[in-house]
Amino acid sequence: MTNNYDVIVIGGGPGGYVCAIRAAQLGLKTACVESRGTLGGTCLNVGCIPSKSLLNLSENFHKAKKNFFDQGIEVSDVKLNVDKMMKNKNKSVQVLTKGVEFLFKKNKVTYLKGKGVIFSSKNVVVYDQGKKTSYNAKNIVIATGSTPTSIPGIEINEKNIISSTAALSLTSVPKSLVVIGGGYIGLEMGSVWKRLGTEVTVIENLPYITPGMDREVSKEFQKILAKQGIKFQLNSKVLSIKDLKNEVKIEFQSNENNSKNEISANKALIAVGRKPYTEGLNLSKIGIKKDEKGRIKVNKKFQTDIKNIYAIGDVIEGPMLAHKAEEEGIAVAELIAGQSGHVNYDVIPGVIYTSPEVAYVGKTEEQLKIDNIDYKIGKFPFLANSRAKVNNETEGFVKILAHRKSDRVLGVHIIGPHCGDMIAEMALAMEFGASSEDIARTCHAHPTHTEAIKEAALAVDKRPIHF
Ligand code: NAI
Repeated sequence: MTNNYDVIVIGGGPGGYVCAIRAAQLGLKTACVESRGTLGGTCLNVGCIPSKSLLNLSENFHKAKKNFFDQGIEVSDVKLNVDKMMKNKNKSVQVLTKGVEFLFKKNKVTYLKGKGVIFSSKNVVVYDQGKKTSYNAKNIVIATGSTPTSIPGIEINEKNIISSTAALSLTSVPKSLVVIGGGYIGLEMGSVWKRLGTEVTVIENLPYITPGMDREVSKEFQKILAKQGIKFQLNSKVLSIKDLKNEVKIEFQSNENNSKNEISANKALIAVGRKPYTEGLNLSKIGIKKDEKGRIKVNKKFQTDIKNIYAIGDVIEGPMLAHKAEEEGIAVAELIAGQSGHVNYDVIPGVIYTSPEVAYVGKTEEQLKIDNIDYKIGKFPFLANSRAKVNNETEGFVKILAHRKSDRVLGVHIIGPHCGDMIAEMALAMEFGASSEDIARTCHAHPTHTEAIKEAALAVDKRPIHF
């Protein structure tokens, strides 16, 4: 009975592969179907991992070129080798995707290469290069992720009108790049190419960048990026993009006064969001419903309309983040095994890996106002943090929002050096229901950037020491 499984997971991204490993750990006979040819999904292959590699490498180049001299490090003739940089990135991706394959072997998860199609509540057929194999499963988990969306009437051709996938693999530095969408992808990829020498303009539909983020942080973020030379056209709608082979012509309109403008660039990066990817799964035929945004409808236990078919990650509601999908993958595996897995959606951190980084967890000030929750604020600038000061990285601040009466931490928003790592402390504190007083009374090592968190917590009670 080799084709019978307790769990078949469709999709080998961070949601799917983590779910498969956890299910196998719990003693369930598990297979994971993946059509890409490599495991790890968008995140490892064409998302989080390659972008972080390029963010790190481009930051190193930028520092060597712009900052070292003033710091007494005199290197002559700093040159960029895009080909080598891309090879370095590709190597990192390869090592990590192979690593997931190794983890499958270690945990006895069967890796089924091909496209999985669900034919009934208990049957998955895998198509691979003209071959068709049928598998039976007591439980099926859909973890097929998402794909980039475009603007109506504009086709991404991955030549001059590109998505993040092509933006991660350009073979030379474009002279100019227009980024459409001032969100995660637009600002990370815009930063990479700006540091490597491209003129970058971001066109954003809203009057501010990074919607959903605490507005005070988002304002500061834009100010810092503008200082780095990124140009912004806010409150503007893109009407059309023409690919003229050696350049693109972008027509956009102000939402304020309807005036029309045109801008030319070598490339246009479309980064206006992603949509759930459920194509070819056969969902409507078997009776699984989606909502108006194309997301699979699930209940609190991640069950679809068919009880033993679950869905997790980018194909369901919630932020399209790898770590959110991972948590859901673990929860589903545990639920299938009869345990009580769950995800705390109030404590899912978000990070934008620009320089400086931006990180947050919990509610924004705007959300607290909408929810009519009375809150206190504690803020501390990195300018007053000794470690940030000696490293010449003084931009940004830590902002803690705590409940006015109970002092419980409701949200933490940081813009500043290394805050993508620092936010973990705040997620842990919130998971344990910490008050700002708890954080303020926790000893933080000196000199570290994390002292800014302690000081912001002290500032909630208006008693910071160093500011
Ligand atoms: P996003 O939702 O972060 O940002 C899209 C931006 O495009 C928004 O600011 C939106 O207002 C704007 N927009 C929408 N339509 C527009 C139009 N017609 N003209 C101009 N602007 C328009 O989406 P993004 O950056 O594409 O990222 C997709 C997903 O990938 C996100 O949900 C994000 O969570 C995830 N991601 C996460 C990363 C991280 O964790 N560091 C990195 C990259 C992506």
